[in-house]
Amino acid sequence: MGDKLKVWVSRPFFPDIIARLAPVFDVHAELQSRAFSTDELVARLHGMAAAVTGLADRIDDRVLSRAPHLKFVANVSVGYNNFDIDAMRAHGVAASNTPDVLTDTTADYAWALLMAAARRVGAAERWLRAGHWQGTRFDEWLGMDLHGSTLGILGMGRIGQAIARRASGFDMRVIYHNRSRLDAGIEQSVNAHHVDKATLLRESDHLMLVLPLTAESHHVIGAAELAAMKPTATLVNIARGGIVDDVALAAALGEGRLAAAGLDVFEGEPAVHGALLALDNVVLSPHIASASGRTRRAMAALAVDNVLAFFGHGPHAGKPPSRII
Ligand code: GLV
Repeated sequence: MGDKLKVWVSRPFFPDIIARLAPVFDVHAELQSRAFSTDELVARLHGMAAAVTGLADRIDDRVLSRAPHLKFVANVSVGYNNFDIDAMRAHGVAASNTPDVLTDTTADYAWALLMAAARRVGAAERWLRAGHWQGTRFDEWLGMDLHGSTLGILGMGRIGQAIARRASGFDMRVIYHNRSRLDAGIEQSVNAHHVDKATLLRESDHLMLVLPLTAESHHVIGAAELAAMKPTATLVNIARGGIVDDVALAAALGEGRLAAAGLDVFEGEPAVHGALLALDNVVLSPHIASASGRTRRAMAALAVDNVLAFFGHGPHAGKPPSRII
């Protein structure tokens, strides 16, 4: 036990899966989910060779410079905007994420949010539960159709492509904008057409945001972009808070300049801007796009495999399956 390497696990990511680290590591696993300050991270990483982290754990120079034993950090998420990659490189710390295993579950959820927002499912349910349904009026609760409409996708990686593939069942035209255009063969297989950003904003009946949060994508949808969209449009963000300017979005939704939104992510989450909470034409969920039981377990298992592999153990010894750096 004494000379085993130490690994810190920042929250209860399925204890039975984390237990697979125990034959090799001295495992220090948190029993509750909570946010850690920089000082708390430093205290917990003391003496650790590896860490299994979540998006709330900010791994930056302030942490790394005080965690000299740390060699590898496995994020249990596909996005890793909680990592300062340059700082990790500078400190010689390697890292992994959990791509692929969550692609389809996340794409499914993007559609759940889109349908709920466009057809006003959340607001109608709240209204019904509040006892307002006294008789049916033919002309109320009117939403926007999905079938036959134009779906826009901003960011066209694995999840964007999986969303696009699902659109064929709704006979939708799919347009997308991405920094790099897909190969013609992939475009054809997902039945999506590349357009510039202005066209995407102007022509989308429903716009899905599926791009990573970087310095360039911060507030990439702000007041000007929202003004360029159709007032009948729906906006869905399953990517990251901070990609959308939540204040500008709430104003557009409140003033009828945008019909509806479905949001799974928020700038500063778990806090949600009060202006969004006050609106009935936005469907809000607590960052759960990858949350099916099977997928969340697969994400934890992939993170564990990455840690084992980095230190020369398990089925991928020496080659972490989804190493980023
Ligand atoms: C979730 O947001 C993820 O990046 O996996």
